[in-house]
Amino acid sequence: MSGFFRADLRQRAEELVTLYPRPRSATIPLLHLVQEQEGYLSEAGIEAVAALTETTPAEVRGTASFYDMFHLEPVGRYHVGVCTNVACLLAGGAEMLEHVESTLGCAAGGRSADGLFSVEESECLADCNLAPCVQVNYRYVRTRTPEEFDVLVEDLRSGRREHDIPPHGTHSRVKRQGGLRAPKDEVAAERARARDARAQRDAAREETT
Ligand code: FES
Repeated sequence: MSGFFRADLRQRAEELVTLYPRPRSATIPLLHLVQEQEGYLSEAGIEAVAALTETTPAEVRGTASFYDMFHLEPVGRYHVGVCTNVACLLAGGAEMLEHVESTLGCAAGGRSADGLFSVEESECLADCNLAPCVQVNYRYVRTRTPEEFDVLVEDLRSGRREHDIPPHGTHSRVKRQGGLRAPKDEVAAERARARDARAQRDAAREETT
């Protein structure tokens, strides 16, 4: 096992390799671990995955580059996606993208100067009924107006959304154990914590308005 992964992810990486008949089948789940640790797929991470899967860095990069959710360049701690596909375009998606870019100070495809945000113009994100659709770190945030987006940015900057929007690359907060199953009690506890965090945030906002 390479020394690339930090201690809490190393055990999971070891499990993943033994989970499949052939090590190379673990490539994608291992790439998610790299992205969780680094925020993107660093060169060192790609090399570590190649060593674990008995493939080459070129093969790993070739697989990773096929998927939009893997990033070969650093992205922000919060990666914002704005859909400008047909339903969202008609509901103001282009104007929302413009607002996001000017608020965060970076164009689609770029990162803000402080590295906190990056922006992506997205194809249909499958939430057309709540257009225009915005995601942060691939989580639906349901901010449909520029004003709502500004509140979200304020919350992200202050850490108030840390619980339900973890740093980019975090695939799931409850880690799977012993194969592909996640412990149900931990999932339930995590959902309860998310509900509490949301209620506290809403209450704090009501107090200030
Ligand atoms: S067109 Fe934007 S979510 Fe479907």
